[in-house]
Amino acid sequence: MENQSDKFQQVISHTKEYGFVFQSSELYDGLAAVYDYGQYGVELRRNLRDYWWKSMVQMNDNIVGIDSAIFMHPTIWKASGHVDNFNDPMVDNKDSKKRYRVDVIIEDKAAQYEAAGDKATADALIASMDTMLTNADFAGLRQLLIDHKIVCPLSGTSNWTDVRQFNLMFSTQMGSVSEDSDTIYLRPETAQGIFVNFLNVQKTGRMKIPFGIAQVGKAFRNEIVARQFIFRMREFEQMEMQFFVRPGSEMEWYNHWREKRMAWHKSLGIDASMLRFKDHTKLAHYANAAVDIEYNFPFGFKEVEGIHSRTDFDLKQHQTFSKKKIQYFDNDLNEEGKPYGNYIPFVVETSVGLDRLFLLTLCNAFEEQVIPKEDGTSDSRSVLHLPAILAPYKVAILPLLKKDGLPEAARKIADELRPFHSIFYEEKDTIGKRYRRMDAIGTPFCVCVDHQTLTDGTVTIRDRDKMTQERVPASSLKEIIDQAVRMPIL
Ligand code: GAP
Repeated sequence: MENQSDKFQQVISHTKEYGFVFQSSELYDGLAAVYDYGQYGVELRRNLRDYWWKSMVQMNDNIVGIDSAIFMHPTIWKASGHVDNFNDPMVDNKDSKKRYRVDVIIEDKAAQYEAAGDKATADALIASMDTMLTNADFAGLRQLLIDHKIVCPLSGTSNWTDVRQFNLMFSTQMGSVSEDSDTIYLRPETAQGIFVNFLNVQKTGRMKIPFGIAQVGKAFRNEIVARQFIFRMREFEQMEMQFFVRPGSEMEWYNHWREKRMAWHKSLGIDASMLRFKDHTKLAHYANAAVDIEYNFPFGFKEVEGIHSRTDFDLKQHQTFSKKKIQYFDNDLNEEGKPYGNYIPFVVETSVGLDRLFLLTLCNAFEEQVIPKEDGTSDSRSVLHLPAILAPYKVAILPLLKKDGLPEAARKIADELRPFHSIFYEEKDTIGKRYRRMDAIGTPFCVCVDHQTLTDGTVTIRDRDKMTQERVPASSLKEIIDQAVRMPIL
């Protein structure tokens, strides 16, 4: 079996080499846990975002979207609990001066026990940690580090400081002069922008419960343990949907969204064996059920999306802190045939990280493929088996030669397709080299324009995954690509 850590390194190198992801501020030696998207990355990421938006907003008539500002009134974060509770327990190693999230290094240790076949110790360690985290028993957590001989990977020592809480929100100042400026936060989740606009949207959109509000946007967290490339970033993008329901019906909707979201991931060609649910055993104070959808990354199963039944916690908190009524008048009948009247709706949330989904998509699509040749030798290629709907370019139009009128004929075909699909046009290098470059950025189709095109208007179309070619009329290309990028009905 392929070494998974090697595979991850290959994926990282590939994203850099082919212009998908660059380290932020690389020219100045980089900024930790912040990344930029290059020319192909930006297209793939936009296609993922569009796929999510279409399946949430376009395909559901009871879900609408908003785009709220990143800066929000600071009291919002007091009400949501982020000022007081959005903390991670951290510990510093006195020798290396490195800071770690306590739960992460304990979980790593448990994984080591499990890998060595000692599942009982691993489970016991996690159970103790969970209890201590719930009870904010920081002395106990530190003792676990000592008892289990958990050492700093850099210094190799267990010379730990006390465990302390560390707030993950970034803050800045708003106001012209420092004396009258207010501390405001860069939002750590997009969800609160939806909650505080609940009434605006419900009233102006005449929305009837159950209904959802979706939003895609940047979020910021001062993550301490920033590892694994774009898996955990300090600036990232979330795609969240808050679904407002009648109190008492939340578990039904929670189960509905749990299944819907899993089906959505599978619709992108992810094998069922690579995905799993992980129910939260330790629930946040506002939740009465929560589950993660995990993907089997090269570094193990990790969270990609969370589905949370958030009760009426957030709307209630905003009602209290804003001193404004946030209620919904339900004039439908309940099971006893009575109008529900006024209530604060309950909320089921789906929350997926766009960048993490991007990483999942790349890990899933990447293959370093060996291709046997007829003479017994072999060739190889790096290929991204991206679903056509996500691919940065849907088709490459390639004249076989840079002469004989082939570039002109190819450009004409490309220009006719351009209004409908993203097209890559290239004349340089041998056709074989151009195919390989397209494989590496995941272009599902390569069209070769040759001398026959000039006489009968046909072209060859090459399938990226099967590497087979078929001769078709150039006039049928639009329909072939239309079919390949059609949005599925989930
Ligand atoms: N509104 C709920 C919420 O924010 P979360 O589990 O903290 O819940 C939801 O985050 C999703 O956002 C995660 O499943 C993950 O995909 C993504 N995410 C969270 N922190 C991230 C980070 N530091 N870098 C990249 N993605 C992150």
